[in-house]
Amino acid sequence: MKYKVAIITVSDKGSKGQREDLSGKVIEEMITPWAEVVSYRIIPDEKDLIKQTIIDEVDRADLILTNGGTGLHPRDVTPDATLEIIDKEVPGIAEAMRFAGLAKTKTAMLSRAVAGIKGKTLVINLPGSPKAVRECLEVIIDAIPHAIDKLKGDPSECSR
Ligand code: MTE
Repeated sequence: MKYKVAIITVSDKGSKGQREDLSGKVIEEMITPWAEVVSYRIIPDEKDLIKQTIIDEVDRADLILTNGGTGLHPRDVTPDATLEIIDKEVPGIAEAMRFAGLAKTKTAMLSRAVAGIKGKTLVINLPGSPKAVRECLEVIIDAIPHAIDKLKGDPSECSR
């Protein structure tokens, strides 16, 4: 089965066509082996719009991957929007990305990315640059199918 994935690129410049969305393409390329991209949107860094866009995608996607808007700039509000709409956090996902990222760049600690679940959909924030997206997804990608299966109620025993 291919998992249904929604990609939401959060970028003021990208949404105005002033920057090519290379990060969204990196995500698509990396998840293609096990995922079907059911939606791909580029939206500005507006908290209410980010919340509504995630909510809109929950019904059709098993996994929502946002990218961008996780840093310290006053316009960076993706994690704040995500926290306001998820039911539960899955902190280990963001912890793993930051921990592994630190071995490559000290600025990895500056991403405020969060991950959590909304209904039966996993929502994960990724940082915005193509390099950061690749580095972060590499860390978590092998655990994602198992996470989605469990979220959907897979009763099988883990790690046997
Ligand atoms: N994580 C990894 N693995 N590699 C990176 O290059 N860039 C960092 C950080 N996380 C980076 C990373 C930088 S420079 C910033 S400012 C923050 O992510 C936030 O990025 P964002 O605002 O584009 O989401």
